[in-house]
Amino acid sequence: MEWTPLVTEDGSVTLVSTTVGQACHSRSGAWLEARERYAIPTRLRERALALSGDDRMLRLLDVGTGLGLTIAAALDALEGTGVRLDVVTLERDTSVLTAAARIGREAIRGGAAPTADLDRSWALVLDTLARALAAGPDPASEPLGADRGRLRLLLGDGRETIQRLPARPTFDAVFLDPFSPAADPPLWEREFLAAVAVRMAPGSWLSTYCASLEVRARLVLAGLRVGPGGMVGAKREGTLASPDLDPGAFQPRVARKLARRVERIQSRAPVPGNRCSS
Ligand SMILES: C[S@@+](CC[C@H](N)C(=O)[O-])C[C@H]1O[C@@H](n2cnc3c(N)ncnc32)[C@H](O)[C@@H]1O
Repeated sequence: MEWTPLVTEDGSVTLVSTTVGQACHSRSGAWLEARERYAIPTRLRERALALSGDDRMLRLLDVGTGLGLTIAAALDALEGTGVRLDVVTLERDTSVLTAAARIGREAIRGGAAPTADLDRSWALVLDTLARALAAGPDPASEPLGADRGRLRLLLGDGRETIQRLPARPTFDAVFLDPFSPAADPPLWEREFLAAVAVRMAPGSWLSTYCASLEVRARLVLAGLRVGPGGMVGAKREGTLASPDLDPGAFQPRVARKLARRVERIQSRAPVPGNRCSS
């Protein structure tokens, strides 16, 4: 795949896939989105601060490694808590990791990255991803710095690589961040979302920028409680889901449409104009 760098409105850099025709992040801000769409709504810091004991760890499933910015935002959220991050990240395309290493190091060295927290966490993630990439397609976990946790990079189509993870409620958070359903549908398929849902631990959150009715209905059918995610940058609403926590209610009109879509999928009737982007 071909990747072109793009500086977003908060000064942080992302990559645009010229093959898919989409950027890896919102133009409003790559770092803004990584923090406000993923790390903050999945409440990693609150959960970390509530943990007790010597060996404290939170488990993250990161769907779509890309530049590693969402992982960096998770690390940043745990900064100073003493809680380590155990992350499994799924990526199909090694070329994005190579391009990210190049532009990330340039941005960090050149001071183009907007904040010290981004520089610090992203440098650690890029180093770890480089080691994981050098180790081959399914390496053991690589340490994240001296004591920040560990990272396992599963290279290949996420629909296959997720099957290497035990089908048990393991993860405390899921960042669901593929390209859009209309541009790149595989990681929005019902079977994949069900495979993610069974791996979510009680008390965990999934966050995604996607507000598609079809994707929301698939998350409901995977057994999750589904609600609206907050506004981030120019994007009005995303989606939050949990196996057991209350994500808050949709507007009544949206809730009615979602219930109808769930019923339609269940009855296997063809959905008119069935596109995930609706
Ligand atoms: C929006 S970008 C992710 C950005 C990333 N979370 C970050 O913060 O830098 C989407 C990523 O998903 C990856 N991807 C798309 N389809 C995939 C699949 N079927 N399996 C694994 N990775 C996939 C793409 O190669 C791309 O790197």
